[in-house]
Amino acid sequence: MKVAVTGGAGFIGGNFVQYMVNKYPSYDIFNLDVLTYAGDLTKHKNIENNENYHFAKVDISNRDEIMELFNKEKFDYVVHFAAESHVDRSITEPEIFVKTNVLGTQVLLDASKAINVKKFVHVSTDEVYGELDFDPTTFFTEDTPLQPNSPYSASKASSDLLVRAYHETFKLPMNITRCSNNYGPYHFPEKLIPLTISRVLNDQKVPVYGTGENIRDWLHVLDHCSAIDLVMHEGENGEVYNVGGHNERTNLEVVKTIISALGKSEDLIEFVQDRLGHDKRYAIDPSKLEKLGWKPTYNFDTGIAQTVQWYLDNKEWWETIISGEYKQYFEKQYGNK
Ligand code: NAD
Ligand code: TYD
Repeated sequence: MKVAVTGGAGFIGGNFVQYMVNKYPSYDIFNLDVLTYAGDLTKHKNIENNENYHFAKVDISNRDEIMELFNKEKFDYVVHFAAESHVDRSITEPEIFVKTNVLGTQVLLDASKAINVKKFVHVSTDEVYGELDFDPTTFFTEDTPLQPNSPYSASKASSDLLVRAYHETFKLPMNITRCSNNYGPYHFPEKLIPLTISRVLNDQKVPVYGTGENIRDWLHVLDHCSAIDLVMHEGENGEVYNVGGHNERTNLEVVKTIISALGKSEDLIEFVQDRLGHDKRYAIDPSKLEKLGWKPTYNFDTGIAQTVQWYLDNKEWWETIISGEYKQYFEKQYGNK
């Protein structure tokens, strides 16, 4: 079985590559990644010599390169993570989001169709549904209309619609997964949780947008990996599955939990100007996926404690990142803090 994992050098794709290489020694796992600022291969040092792990440096929006690779390798499955993934960057530089997330997905769909893959698994996000209000009894289901609010979520929704269209028009076998916010090892430190951990460890201010009351539904990345594994193997052709673990927290609660785990002062919290178009609340109803047999294994309290410990044990990984190009990104995004 040959499995192409796009974006396998990033946060979730990277965890998924590790999960698959270890769980399925008889599968050949191909990591297809162009290595943007968010991709790095140091996370795969432990598997780089495994016979069932392969890497190809390739841009998913480069049609010729993708066609050549797909025609050569004849993948059975494509699990598509590669994307521009940060909402804040989509507000300042939307164009690359359309190129990678929309055009890149379309190139992969054409290539997958050309070699008749067994299934195309498209990893999407709950953000395509837009936002919920603060009523805790409301959730996104697979039937919630798509109402994306940011250029990021609009580009992901566009790619979801292309995947659907290739299924309807060309009978391309596919599933779409829509997951809530992930956290865990190798989360790039521009996102709330790793940004908070890395800044608190350096006794730097943590920028909290607006009042900090916005709510996200947090899922450990390994629970996301097991969900995709299940959907890839057992998901009903053409179906969408929401992935989430009912771990809703306000941003302020998340930041305070991390500060407390690290024994630091809440004086590090700094309320800053709100994100444009900031979605109020995300919350997932995962019952369709649970009926397929999925159950998350982490709760937020133990998951976040383990994640904080991982960042303490792997300082070299994130210190290398925040001392590089990231510095300019941070200054541009937040000013000189
Ligand atoms: P990430 O930003 O950490 O990693 C993205 C990876 O894609 C990087 O390795 C990057 O080099 C690669 N990439 C980008 N452009 C590429 C291109 N043109 N060609 C080849 N590779 C390219 O992202 P992530 O947080 O791991 O998210 C992975 C996927 O999961 C995305 O599709 C995202 O929309 C989705 N998702 C993320 C979350 C979350 O909380 N992070 C939640 C739900 C869904
Ligand atoms: P983020 O990790 O960027 O994920 P997403 O925007 O995809 O949900 O942000 C999570 C929440 O944290 C979101 O409501 C925005 C907020 N946030 C801050 O308050 N400060 C920050 O510096 C960042 C990056 C995010």
